[in-house]
Amino acid sequence: MKRMTTRLLAGAAALTGIGTVSAAADELVYYCSAQIEWCQLMSEAFERETGIRVAMTRKSSGETYAQIKAEAANPRGDVWWGGTGDPHLQAAEEGLTEVYQSPLLEELHDWAVQQAEQSGFRTVGIYAGALGFGYNSELFEQRGWEPPSCWADLTRPEFRDEISVANPNSSGTAYTALATFVQIMGEDEAFAFLADLHQNIAQYTLSGSAPIRDAARGEVAIGIVFLHDAVTQAVEGFPIVPVAPCEGTGYEIGSMSIIQGGPNPDAARQFYDFALRADIQARAVEVKAYQVPSNRAAEAPPEAPDFDTIKLIDYDFARFGSSDERTRLLARWDAEIGSLAR
Ligand code: G6P
Repeated sequence: MKRMTTRLLAGAAALTGIGTVSAAADELVYYCSAQIEWCQLMSEAFERETGIRVAMTRKSSGETYAQIKAEAANPRGDVWWGGTGDPHLQAAEEGLTEVYQSPLLEELHDWAVQQAEQSGFRTVGIYAGALGFGYNSELFEQRGWEPPSCWADLTRPEFRDEISVANPNSSGTAYTALATFVQIMGEDEAFAFLADLHQNIAQYTLSGSAPIRDAARGEVAIGIVFLHDAVTQAVEGFPIVPVAPCEGTGYEIGSMSIIQGGPNPDAARQFYDFALRADIQARAVEVKAYQVPSNRAAEAPPEAPDFDTIKLIDYDFARFGSSDERTRLLARWDAEIGSLAR
């Protein structure tokens, strides 16, 4: 009888996870792909509320995806928070991330839930942001240039070496730009446009928001970024004007995923629920992060770009977040654009 009870208890413990010894229940290995200030705020807020010690690494979306893939045989990370949704969807398709249905899903906007459904609940939307560019109005005035309002303007000859954008392999922002051009123009035309644009690119950066920081400091005149990143620089007092391009533009569903087989799954789920809460998402403004939050009760900050005034394309997340398509497009970018002389 005693043995039976012990066995039953052991079975119940295995089912519920109670009493099972995880590597270090008071730890969370947190991979973050949003802006560093917001990554830090999330990390500190979670630590303070739960007492769980957080080890954080900030890398761009494509880089984090590659790291999780490289570590798949021996996962080191627990949760991946932030960054564009496409590589989160690719990780989901490749089984690198875990199925989890948070009780907070019902509090989220439809676009965030769709992101979860589409991935078989291996990822979820935490924020949304529209792509565009920002220009340095002081530089434009000094040089007597007409401000750009369309993607097509960016290939103007006077902008030679005056534009910065990230590399789409490392950066989710730049991959969103690549996928956006393909959807607006058709693939061959998009690559022809990118080859023209290449003449004007001063630098392909590692991180997606670096280009607008460069523009803010006058190192280049234009940065191709998410509009909310351009707004951040304007709010900081830099002469940056955000532009929602006239042809229309794509957008991201910034996402979060639990890493398959990570060392601290309980802490990962705790962080996941924490990050979906309205009061936590509403804190983004404290670090001048102006994405649209996914929890319906978390109001978008007044500075957030108004989606109703932006011509948004019907971005095909299923296609551009699929493993085959993302891998193929990046290989074509490397072959046709990344390898071009400058
Ligand atoms: C910035 C944006 C985020 C975006 C992220 C992607 O932090 O504010 O909305 O998800 O860039 O970063 P990446 O470096 O991958 O382009």
